[in-house]
Amino acid sequence: MPDRLSRRQFARITASSALGLSTAARARGQSAGFPRHFLWGTATSAYQIEGAVKEDGRGRSIWDSFAHTDGTIADRSNADIACDHYHLYRQDVQLMKALGAKAYRFSIAWPRIFPEGSGTPNPKGLDFYNRLLDELLANGLSPFVTLYHWDLPLALQLRFGGWTSRDTATAFADYAGYVVQRLSDRAQHFFTINECSRIVHLGHGLGLDAPGLKLPDAELNQVRHHVALGHGLAVQAIRAHGKRGTKVGPAENMVICVPAIETAANVRAAEAATRDLNAPYLTVMLEGHYRDTFLVRAGHNAPKFTDEDLRIISSRIDFVGLNVYKPDHYVVAADNARGFALAPFPASFPHMDASWLNVGPEAIYWAPRHLSKLWGVTSIYITENGTSATDEAAADGQVYDVDRIMYLRNYLTELQRATSEGIPVLGYFLWSLMDNFEWSDGLAKRFGLIRVDFETQGRTPKLSAAFYREVIRRNAVA
Ligand code: FCB
Repeated sequence: MPDRLSRRQFARITASSALGLSTAARARGQSAGFPRHFLWGTATSAYQIEGAVKEDGRGRSIWDSFAHTDGTIADRSNADIACDHYHLYRQDVQLMKALGAKAYRFSIAWPRIFPEGSGTPNPKGLDFYNRLLDELLANGLSPFVTLYHWDLPLALQLRFGGWTSRDTATAFADYAGYVVQRLSDRAQHFFTINECSRIVHLGHGLGLDAPGLKLPDAELNQVRHHVALGHGLAVQAIRAHGKRGTKVGPAENMVICVPAIETAANVRAAEAATRDLNAPYLTVMLEGHYRDTFLVRAGHNAPKFTDEDLRIISSRIDFVGLNVYKPDHYVVAADNARGFALAPFPASFPHMDASWLNVGPEAIYWAPRHLSKLWGVTSIYITENGTSATDEAAADGQVYDVDRIMYLRNYLTELQRATSEGIPVLGYFLWSLMDNFEWSDGLAKRFGLIRVDFETQGRTPKLSAAFYREVIRRNAVA
């Protein structure tokens, strides 16, 4: 790398950086690639792929009950069978291996381990994850384990109202400690909770996810606090029970604030917005207090909490996982008390095959940049990124999902921009390995690199699987 840049090189870099290209890589005169040990993987979650909902002593989850309630799932499907991964996991591990992936993010179904949510464990439930871990390791894949990806044991919902009660946060920590004690000889990385805000907002505010509640603001804020507390208690339990070297962090869908134009003033505004709009989750986890703006806005509906709760929520973490699909806000500097304004999304803003899935690749640059700049986070994983697509099969039976490839190529280019600037993103988990049960969208919204025929359980790699394999092989955007 040259020590000094010529005036001409400098001008070129400035121009390319305005276009969002990788400055550091260009400064090195190299074509941009990812760091040498960058970890490539795919992601799934238990309820979305496993099926076998009544097997080997598994208890029911709130999603079993929700998906079997009339009017909840767009295509009236459920995940009783889903991808039948519970039986086909060996084959699925081979599919990951064929991509060249070196890591896999999956979740543990709490009701397989504790069918009643707490109390007597079910050893057969744990055995499945023992088999899966062994299979992954035998095939050179590092397991990244999520402990809560939304399938709360139904028993806890019935017994004390699930996350409306603090007791669920405690039960979650007990379960987390139990699992980590038994799996951390083979898995080093554990995520506590997947997407706190979606659990709260869609599950307990809008009623669109399980448990389907529409709580008033004060109760909703209390749920919010219990979920954050559950994260913190689980971090502590994992530290207490994990083998040496066990690492833990959340997998958050941070509210992603992108400067509308990359001026210094807009960047500062986007940073202010990031701290403000993530107040109940990442901000409190990383700063140890609820921001005044959050509490004032909530007014008499603010959550009830103690200083000790805040200490627990902000327990030290080893990394932050980020699920990145879209920018949440384009931000401009403003002369107001908050110091920022949010630009409205025009109706013509481009999106993928889901109306919420706006295409804004720069989100995957700004999210980790804010984390490292604002809070000094030194280890970041992209725990989810990907898109649904219509995925019609062509006459030859193949799925030429060039729209998914377009999406991925653009996001990965922006991610490369981040790593080449030294932002500490250590790995990337593409959502998803294969088509699966997409919550209230049912089986109809397909996010996989691998097509799943839900009738026959046949698996067929799409063109995007070949694209991703090429990215992994080159360790650069293909
Ligand atoms: C995320 C979820 C994941 C998947 C994707 C599309 O919010 O964590 O399970 O459904 O969206």
